[in-house]
Amino acid sequence: MADPFQDVSAAGAAFIEAFTTQLEVRAAEPAMRAIVEAYLDDIDWSAVSLAVELGCGTGPIARAMAARCVAGRVLGTEPSVELLDHGRGLADGIGNLDLQVGDGSAVDLADGAADVVVFHTVLSHVPDPMVLLAEARRILRPGGTLVVCDGDFSKSSLASADNDPLNICARHFAENYVTDPHLTGRLGGLVKDAGFTQRAFRVTIRLVTDTPGMRAWVKLSGDDLVTGGNIGRPMADALLDEHDRRVEAGTLYGFQPFVTLVAERV
Ligand SMILES: C[S@@+](CC[C@H](N)C(=O)[O-])C[C@H]1O[C@@H](n2cnc3c(N)ncnc32)[C@H](O)[C@@H]1O
Repeated sequence: MADPFQDVSAAGAAFIEAFTTQLEVRAAEPAMRAIVEAYLDDIDWSAVSLAVELGCGTGPIARAMAARCVAGRVLGTEPSVELLDHGRGLADGIGNLDLQVGDGSAVDLADGAADVVVFHTVLSHVPDPMVLLAEARRILRPGGTLVVCDGDFSKSSLASADNDPLNICARHFAENYVTDPHLTGRLGGLVKDAGFTQRAFRVTIRLVTDTPGMRAWVKLSGDDLVTGGNIGRPMADALLDEHDRRVEAGTLYGFQPFVTLVAERV
């Protein structure tokens, strides 16, 4: 099946509802906040007039950028009207943040208009990341900053033991809800080929033990396996119950490496 994040609006109400919540839950995790704050710390915000997040979803990263960008403004663009509508409610009252519907391959900005462009878990969900990197380069001024932060889904896991049944859901999610689970392994080369000079590359573990940050992986995977005739509904329900039991006990071991690459537009 095609990665539903390639066209969220076409993915159906259940998927949209799940990720309207899930993106906000993930952004609020202490581990994810630390990952985001670390790359926001890499930017000299006093020199930023315009920072852009492409593929902003409901906008948690764009809002964090706006809190830093006190001397300038932030633009978040997102192809899904549904995610963006929800994001507009959450951004209410943030005067230096604009949210616009749009694809990251054709941004409504002049060449060199932006000082900063951020992709947060977007490039692993597109068929050709070079198209979006080329557009980021076009809208960035020379010397401007590119940040790409993405999960290494090829190594994400829900396993706490050999043959842990919950891990089927992590594997299923990586195979069906991500376009390129190995994107982060190729990222350095892609960014270089797109015309950027790498300034930082770090890997940080997102560890989920007691929050529902990976619940959608289990819910959607269980539902898919039922639909595909692989398992019956009682087993899908049991997988979700087991996930929730571990979260309640603080014993879930949801493991996902996250790569952050910071680069300068040549
Ligand atoms: C996993 S979500 C991440 C959303 C947000 N950046 C965050 O971290 O909360 C992936 C996002 O990429 C968006 N997306 C998919 N294809 C895109 C494209 N061609 N241009 C811009 N965004 C795209 C999806 O609509 C979705 O909102």
